[in-house]
Order: sequence, then structure tokens, then C-alpha cells
Amino acid sequence: MGIKILGTGCYLPDQKLTNNDFTKFVDTNDEWIRTRTGIAERRMAGWEPVWYMGSEAARQAIAQAGIAPEDIGLVIAASATNDFHTPSIACLVQHETGAVNAAAFDVNAACSGFVYALDTARRFLETDTGMKYVLIVAAEALSRFLDFGDRSSCILFGDGAAAAVIERSDKPFTSALGADGSGGRLLYARSVGVAEEIKVEHEFDDGFPEKRLHKLYQDGREVYKFATKALPKAFHLAADKAGITPEDIDWFVPHQANIRIIETAAKNLGAPMEKFIVTLDHYGNTSSVSIPLALHESIEKGVIKRGQKLALIGFGAGLTYAGAIFEY
Ligand code: COA
Repeated sequence: MGIKILGTGCYLPDQKLTNNDFTKFVDTNDEWIRTRTGIAERRMAGWEPVWYMGSEAARQAIAQAGIAPEDIGLVIAASATNDFHTPSIACLVQHETGAVNAAAFDVNAACSGFVYALDTARRFLETDTGMKYVLIVAAEALSRFLDFGDRSSCILFGDGAAAAVIERSDKPFTSALGADGSGGRLLYARSVGVAEEIKVEHEFDDGFPEKRLHKLYQDGREVYKFATKALPKAFHLAADKAGITPEDIDWFVPHQANIRIIETAAKNLGAPMEKFIVTLDHYGNTSSVSIPLALHESIEKGVIKRGQKLALIGFGAGLTYAGAIFEY
């Protein structure tokens, strides 16, 4: 049993930050950022809470799907930057969209979150035959967790939200989820309040190199190495289950972290770059949002068409990786 994407949506904050804007607070320049990452600009949430951005994207996806929100059986939200420890983003989106009959929960698989949620949604649709539709929402405000004094990480990320409404279909769907928790200390942001308690009350070194509160820490080189292997691995783990090869794929929709990571993945997969959707130049790395946002934008532009075979492949903090292959 597979899935069909009925509708997609997105929300992007108005505020744009160009590479040149960063020169006001860190020692960097447009040329370095473009050549090392492929990023030219990104959006920054201002007043918008994460749940608000997610709800706006969800409303658009529901309208495009042409369904009644009451018929949604489950809302799954993917995010690493929730406004609250609790409630979940999914509960707030459920209320905002009028999906009154839906169960709601969040997944945190960082940048792999949307593919994790898609895989989870398919399993729900398969086992709960009374469930008609699942709403998946990815929403992030990375900017609230960035260290704007760290030039190697703050230039990479952007904010926004994207959503998709899915139903079951009889078309083939294959997916694979994975994690390597030994890399948990390579990319993280602490929850507010936790670090100080650990240090002061227990004098316990938790092994995380950066002790400051809730600012993103990243070992860029190690994450880069992981990422270039994780994307092809995510594809092959999913593809091998159904004897699919890269030639069978019309569009690869990879996590949008760095153009060089995508180019290396394309080379390792033996697939031409022309088959890879790239949006990071104008949005940066929006974590769990990057894959559904690239999907939504490409569908809107008529690049991705019904009947085409897609490979969504992601990696992220955790460390995590995930792949899903299906027909649009
Ligand atoms: N502007 C100018 N110089 C910068 C810079 C910036 N924004 N950021 C780093 N540099 C400098 C470094 O300080 C270093 O200087 P040094 O040689 O004097 O020490 C030099 O550029 C090279 O640094 P390095 O870390 O080797 O660069 P890189 O080519 O590996 O690129 C990243 C750095 C972060 C872009 C790259 O490692 C990367 O993309 N990693 C993966 C990150 C990622 O995908 N994260 C999200 C995962 S979901």
C-alpha cells in the first residue's frame, strides 16, 4: 500500500537575510557563502511562532487537497524548534485548521523529520482503515536557536513551514528510516535550562562540547562527511526493497543543506544533477521544512508532475537519515 499527496502548502516569513547582511555581524562575505554552500538568501521568522507558520502552510495544503478538515484522522508535525516543550505543534495546528477529529503528535528527527512523518503516516493509513487523510506539517524557526556570532553555522539556516495532505493509494511506496546516535554531539541545541542544572548541581560532563544554553552547535566538517554518505544510503536502503535504481527516478528531492553535499550525493548515486531539486539558494537549510518546501515549490512551478517517480532523501541532527520513494 502506498500514499498519494493530495495537496501541499507553505508559509514563508517576509523577512529576507542576504549573504551581505551577515557581513554586519560576522567576518564573512557573499562569495565565500555562495561557493562553499550554494546559499544566497534565507527567510527569518520575526513575530511568527512556529505553530502559526505550520498552521498557515497546513491551511493551504488542505485547501489545495479540496478536503474537509473534519475528515483528517491524524496530524503529524515535524520540527526541531517547537515554541513549547508542550503542547505539541501538531495539537495547535489541529485546532487552528479545524481538524477536530484528528489525533495529533510531533516527531523530532531534525532535518529528516518530514520523511520520518511520511513513513509514519503511511503505516497509520495501512493499519487504521477508518482513517481517510493525514496532514503532515513541517515548521521551523532555526533563527531563534542560532549563534549569530558563529560564522560557520549561522549563515546556513532559514525559517518557514510546509505541509502536505496524504491519503492511501495502491501505487508502490518504499521507505527506510535510520539513525546513528553516536553523532548526537556533532549537531545540537540544548533545551533552555537543562545545561546549567547539569553543571551546577551534578558537576556532570555530558560530553557535549558547547555548554551554552540553547544555541546551535555544529561540527561542520564531521556533519558534512556524514551527509555525503547518508543521502545515497537513504536512497539505496529504500530503493533496494523494491529493486529500484536511480535511473527509475524522475526527481530526487534531497534535504537542502549545502549544494556541495547534493552534488556529491548525485555523483555517488550516478544520477545527473538535473534530476535534483535545488531550492537552498533562496531558502537556505530550513531543517524538516526543506524537503516538503522543495516539493511544494516544484509542484507549483509545474516541474514535478503527476505520475512522476520521486525520491525524498534526508539527513539531519540525531544523527538521522531517511528515504521515501513513490509516485506523485
Ligand atoms: N565566511 C568566511 N569564512 C568562513 C565562514 C564564513 N561564513 N565559515 C567558516 N569559515 C572559514 C573557517 O573559519 C576556516 O578558516 P580557517 O581555515 O582560517 O580556519 C575556513 O573557512 C574553512 O573552514 P571549513 O570548516 O573547512 O569550511 P568548509 O568548506 O567545511 O565549509 C561548512 C563549512 C559548515 C559550510 C561545511 O562544513 C558544511 O556545510 N557542513 C555541513 C553542515 C550541514 O549540512 N549542517 C546541517 C545538517 S542538517
